[in-house]
Amino acid sequence: MKTILVTGGTGFIGSHTCVELLNDNYNIVIIDDFSNSKPEVAEKIMKITNKKVKLYEGNVCDTELLTKIFKENQIDAVIHFAGYKAVGESVAKPLMYYRNNIDSTLTLLEVMSDNNCKKIVFSSSATVYGNPERLPLDESCHLSATNPYGATKLYIEGILKDLYISDNEWSIAVLRYFNPVGAHESGLIGENPNGIPNNLVPYIVKVANKELPELNIFGNDYNTPDGTGVRDYIHVVDLARGHVKSVEKIFEESGIDYYNLGTGKGYSVLDLVKTFESVNNIKIPYKIVARRKGDVAACFASTNHAKEKLNWEATLTLEDMLRSAYLYSKVIKKGY
Ligand code: WQD
Repeated sequence: MKTILVTGGTGFIGSHTCVELLNDNYNIVIIDDFSNSKPEVAEKIMKITNKKVKLYEGNVCDTELLTKIFKENQIDAVIHFAGYKAVGESVAKPLMYYRNNIDSTLTLLEVMSDNNCKKIVFSSSATVYGNPERLPLDESCHLSATNPYGATKLYIEGILKDLYISDNEWSIAVLRYFNPVGAHESGLIGENPNGIPNNLVPYIVKVANKELPELNIFGNDYNTPDGTGVRDYIHVVDLARGHVKSVEKIFEESGIDYYNLGTGKGYSVLDLVKTFESVNNIKIPYKIVARRKGDVAACFASTNHAKEKLNWEATLTLEDMLRSAYLYSKVIKKGY
């Protein structure tokens, strides 16, 4: 059995990926500082899969801790999720983002090299496409950063490319996520951001649970079918399954490649509201307000490359995403 080190493995996407990897008979070791998650998520992962994971608490910038992990475990590959990911926060605190996201990655790659572990899946983001050059976005589209968070992803993609050029033994998969939403069908793991959510679906869920009075829709004067922003929402379980396919790929061959993980379909904010209301039989009050700075009108993926090279495509529907997101919020409200 192969062992995968999952950095940020108790986070939203990391935890769902650990479940799918365990289901696929990998051993899992997690390092997480719980800056955006909780230790009990590891228990939930084990409860869902009835399998064990090894959990180390700490930050990936900690060379000593990472060295200890590689000494105590035969790590065959790494999936690197750990990093700060709030666009707005990154604009306010750029140094914190550059220090944490880039420093941690450099430390990880150095310790991997020292232990002759040269297989990595990196959690990147569609945000590296900046203002979309064309739609749907394919992996050859122009890259640019529109905020420090996106810049860290772009810089790390460049670091990985230079690393591969320096040593062709590396196997590197760079995954560019579109808009991950939803939760595991068990309702035991999902997206539970602290405070007032920045992202659309967790915000709608809080309105549904009457924790927030109404949804503010950031503009309805975009050049889109109903004027509201269009995005490519992908079920977090589909996204997790894309990581399993990527791990298979990096064990097959060395090289570096980039993959969009999306559905290829764009849905507007009003599409989300209407679908959430119908699938959960609940009213979501909203009001149209000014556009949010930095938003683009529309962004959705071309998924051909992931389909051809990873033999992966998203299968879960928008209804599945929004039903599972609401279910999860009700399970955690009951304190499970
Ligand atoms: C989606 C749509 C908003 C909230 C961000 C990051 C991206 C990635 C995913 C990390 C837009 C509208 C939102 C609200 C609204 N994160 N909206 N009212 O901005 O596409 O992507 O999260 O990798 O890097 O940029 O996602 O969910 O914030 O917004 O009207 O209260 O919903 O304008 O059209 P976004 P989002």
